Amino acid sequence: MSTHIGAERGDVAPLVLFPGDPLRARWIAETYLEDARLYTEVRGMYGYTGTWQGHRVSVQGSGMGQPSLAIYVNELLGEYDVQTIIRVGSCGAMTERLAVRDIVLASGACTDSSMNRIRFEGLDYAPVADFDLLHAAHDASAGRSGVHVGLVYSSDSFYSSRPELAQRLVDYGVLAVEMEASALYTLAAKFRRRALAVCTVSDHLFTGEETTALEREQTFGEMVEIALAAGTAVG
Ligand code: HPA
Repeated sequence: MSTHIGAERGDVAPLVLFPGDPLRARWIAETYLEDARLYTEVRGMYGYTGTWQGHRVSVQGSGMGQPSLAIYVNELLGEYDVQTIIRVGSCGAMTERLAVRDIVLASGACTDSSMNRIRFEGLDYAPVADFDLLHAAHDASAGRSGVHVGLVYSSDSFYSSRPELAQRLVDYGVLAVEMEASALYTLAAKFRRRALAVCTVSDHLFTGEETTALEREQTFGEMVEIALAAGTAVG
């Protein structure tokens, strides 16, 4: 057992799908995995392991925001020999180029978090996705419309006190805002493992458009299928 994950070492598969919401972890396990077994419910942050098309796969909740996610990434990579983590979550569109229900494969992540500023003592590190995983996710998206590759903004605030900064980020190519990818990519690099964030657009910052619960569930499924195909292709 690690501090926040109530599992034995072999209980967690080398490939982990990583939604923020633990109830989404349960939904993914029940919907996509065969023989899914709950390995942790510490703090209600469910983790399951099962198989998908013959491959062992785990699904673990990360919680919201980089501090919570970083706890689980440190333990998954440091104590359970996880090789690949794919975040499957939601994001807010920041540009008209994106519509709600579109999917963003995050090639890199900007952030307003101080975690890396502290880690690198003021130097600006560039957290990026694993290229092979990104490539595999792009391949797995072939034939689907509304899939974009580009930068996300991993914000520490869902309710921003500086919304005017969003436009400046858009001017420099940022597509969407979420709250986790930067810490995920940084820690994966530290542990020399693979990571990718695949995010569904749940709301639009400029048009105010939002998805319904049913639409979120359907699009969430598409994103999970991309993540499973990419993660098992890369190994
Ligand atoms: N901000 C941050 N994270 C998000 C958002 C948002 O607007 N939408 C979905 N995840």
